[in-house]
Amino acid sequence: MPRLKLNRFRVKEPPEEVKARYIREYPGRELHFAPETLPPISAEALFGVTAPLVLDLGCGRGEFLVQQAQAHPQRYFVGFEWHLKSVWDAANRAQAAGVDNVRLIKADLRLALLRVPDQAASDVFMLFPPPPLKPRKRRGDLLTEATLRQIHRVLLPDGVFHFVTDHADYFAEKRALIAESGLFEIAGESEAFEGGLTRFQRFWEGFAIPSRRLACRKRQ
Ligand SMILES: C[S@@+](CC[C@H](N)C(=O)[O-])C[C@H]1O[C@@H](n2cnc3c(N)ncnc32)[C@H](O)[C@@H]1O
Repeated sequence: MPRLKLNRFRVKEPPEEVKARYIREYPGRELHFAPETLPPISAEALFGVTAPLVLDLGCGRGEFLVQQAQAHPQRYFVGFEWHLKSVWDAANRAQAAGVDNVRLIKADLRLALLRVPDQAASDVFMLFPPPPLKPRKRRGDLLTEATLRQIHRVLLPDGVFHFVTDHADYFAEKRALIAESGLFEIAGESEAFEGGLTRFQRFWEGFAIPSRRLACRKRQ
């Protein structure tokens, strides 16, 4: 089945106070040439607390992020997303839910991860990253060895990286990358119809394509 673009949708631009509350922009130029001029992506900087973060890499429209933030009000959630309309939609969703334990980093997550301090996160989620199906798309692959090393670096000891995709070959490729890296121990693996955690999950499971999930515990 051809992969569809699900990022064409209407969204209302959030009011300035909602943007200021939830969205932090990390422009590519600064991230590339002068990253130290941008604030660290830490619980202290984003929430004014000392606590582990939960990161959602490529959070899309923030459904999973906001739902988790509502379910776990004592935890601190940070979504990374570069598509402006998705970031706006996620901010509107957070505002509507009335949660204050969510922030959205509008950035290329592969660069923005470099601004997350070592051992800042208890969990990192990467849910339904776009599989680079054509050779020219490989540069857009979100789960490269470099990104995997960053994920390992930002996790606390015993922290968990959660990877989910609908795509069997992509799953096999990334499972091999993770196992061969020696950075993680595979703590859980499943293939199931989990139902509705994210928009993309609902979409693919609607076509009887199961979610393939890996939970990877950080090794020292
Ligand atoms: C297939 S969607 C999945 C969204 C969400 N995780 C879900 O399951 O509904 C992938 C998301 O990753 C975002 N994305 C892709 N590459 C990115 C990058 N380099 N930096 C930040 N976001 C990226 C896309 O804009 C898109 O919203």
